[in-house]
Amino acid sequence: MEQFPAYISLRSRPVLIIGGGPGALAKARLVLAAGADLTVIAPEFASEVREELDARARLIKREPAVADIEASVIVFIADVDESDARRWADVARMGGVLLNVVDRPELCDFTTPSIIDRGQVTVSISTNGAAPVLGKKLRQNIEALLPSRLGELAEFAAKYRASVRARIPAQQRRAFWEKFFDSPIAAQILSGDEWGAHEQMLALINRSQTEQEVGVVHIVGAGPGDPELLTIKALRLLQQADVILYDRLVSDEILSLARRDAERFYVGKAKSNHAVPQEEIEARMIAFAREGKMVVRLKGGDPFVFGRGGEELQALQNASIPSHVCPGVTAATGCAASANMALTHRDFAQAVTFVTGHAKGEADPDLDWPALSALKNTLVVYMGVSKAALISAKLIEHGRAASTPVAVIENGTRSNQKVLKGTLCELDDLIKAGGVKGPALLVVGEVAALADGETLTMLSGQERLVA
Ligand SMILES: C[S@@+](CC[C@H](N)C(=O)[O-])C[C@H]1O[C@@H](n2cnc3c(N)ncnc32)[C@H](O)[C@@H]1O
Repeated sequence: MEQFPAYISLRSRPVLIIGGGPGALAKARLVLAAGADLTVIAPEFASEVREELDARARLIKREPAVADIEASVIVFIADVDESDARRWADVARMGGVLLNVVDRPELCDFTTPSIIDRGQVTVSISTNGAAPVLGKKLRQNIEALLPSRLGELAEFAAKYRASVRARIPAQQRRAFWEKFFDSPIAAQILSGDEWGAHEQMLALINRSQTEQEVGVVHIVGAGPGDPELLTIKALRLLQQADVILYDRLVSDEILSLARRDAERFYVGKAKSNHAVPQEEIEARMIAFAREGKMVVRLKGGDPFVFGRGGEELQALQNASIPSHVCPGVTAATGCAASANMALTHRDFAQAVTFVTGHAKGEADPDLDWPALSALKNTLVVYMGVSKAALISAKLIEHGRAASTPVAVIENGTRSNQKVLKGTLCELDDLIKAGGVKGPALLVVGEVAALADGETLTMLSGQERLVA
């Protein structure tokens, strides 16, 4: 962090702007929005500056003096030439007054960020003066996510802070507010019905006093690895969670988006090496929820696609724990997108089938091979790397042509993604030649020819080069 972000209260405090042009006007609008007592000094004022600021600030037509600067909390300099800017910057520095010189980051004590203003709620984005346009773009993106009545919501919460403090024990207060901001009451305020919300808020506070609060478990899909493939909801839940139980395939980049003080437990398992038994994972989720915690069970891809999310949901429901599922991008769709391979491209496929190549213990997968060998079907095999030879032999035995295109995608959507392509009879050789260890998907079907990837010939060519 190059600069320390802090918010300064300017309400009724003296702020000086030196300059009489459009740069000065832009800064004047900002500080007036924060309630500053504004003086603008310049030898000349542009007409639009006069029109807009005459009634809202003191406009003084002359050269500034040292005393003007020293009487201010912060000073902005805009629309003045280089030598004047430097001269006044020296004066400000000697007087210990914080200074901003527009478009001259090297002369600034502070810079003004891109701001999203929702009343009580403000978001500011700084690029430390390095890329202001990037800052503005980020602001537009964030602005689109924030409801317009966010300020009203914060004001509403502020009105109840004292009653909540008086009635709800300290250890339950955070959970109370989490619940409130996710509740229909908050939704009501955001949709403009504040009056109806007051009655419900009082009921919520009274109820929270009498009930033993049970927490909640969200079973959340983290997607195949690229953090940008998280859903907005998954991100929000991660940032609210008190406890996170996460799997092996959840990337560090995704975990780093979680609330900093959340408790994190690794409960991942390699195929036959269960770090924490399934029953134990379920028992832990239930126990944390009974302590009133907001639990996120974070799973790679989508929780309901070969992820045991269904079993976990049932266990929570059987224990009467409030539970919800947040879907994620499953490996098949994530990998297909990042390999440029449309799974149901209509020239090549009428259906797509997801299967697992994993069976209990070391057994071979017991799949409906005749159905999976049908033409015009894209077959996606999860956890199939170690059984690739068997899978290709079975599909060929049941009628799929040995020349059917295949693709193997390892670490799909991540920075170390590898895509290999070939034909069905080459599947196992591809995996061996490419040193694939997983996590990887096998894709069998005509669409696999569309993938951007390396072939066996390319791989053996590289090997020769390395040798
Ligand atoms: C236990 S399954 C979980 C699948 C997950 N629930 C989903 O929807 O993607 C794990 C398998 O998913 C596949 N997989 C998960 N992430 C992957 C990735 N980034 N690239 C390729 N395959 C992946 C691999 O076949 C891996 O062995």
